[in-house]
Amino acid sequence: MAIRDILKMGDPRLLRIAQPVTQFDADELHLLISDLLDTMLAADGAGLAAPQIGVDLQLVIFGTDTRNPRYPDAPEVPKTVLINPVIIPLPASENDATLLEVEDWEGCLSVPGLRAMVPRFARIRYIGFDQYGDPIDRTVEGFHARVVQHECDHLIGKLYPMRVRDFSRFGYTEVLFPGLDAPLDD
Ligand code: NI
Repeated sequence: MAIRDILKMGDPRLLRIAQPVTQFDADELHLLISDLLDTMLAADGAGLAAPQIGVDLQLVIFGTDTRNPRYPDAPEVPKTVLINPVIIPLPASENDATLLEVEDWEGCLSVPGLRAMVPRFARIRYIGFDQYGDPIDRTVEGFHARVVQHECDHLIGKLYPMRVRDFSRFGYTEVLFPGLDAPLDD
């Protein structure tokens, strides 16, 4: 159990395609998850991916079930350990097969001090495993869908600035949101 250093954008380890986890319910895996949780909580993050602490594995954690000062208005997302994930974009409704994308503000602990409007699929199904090897299969939308897409992007070497389309809405948190009553260290 330890708070680990979070790699920052520019570090080539953030650009790797992560390796699948092959051993579930192992001491090493539980220790890694414990470190990720400690590190995420210390940074008030809504999620953290193993590559962000330099570990080349397909493992992310996320969740906002306690009030998060970085995302004070965000709806609750259950605390989740997600391993070897696959994301399937879904149409916004049964009557329209269009894959709807929505934009909203994102930050990242590996890109401190900045925020941008990032397009993401509005509704997704994600599947994977928890740390015990039990399957996870959820269909979600909104902020939950956004967090999952952001974290899983870390497993394919993508940071949110690589998804930005409108760079007029990419900037420093303290400039974009003056007076925001939240820590500005991310
Ligand atoms: Ni991130």
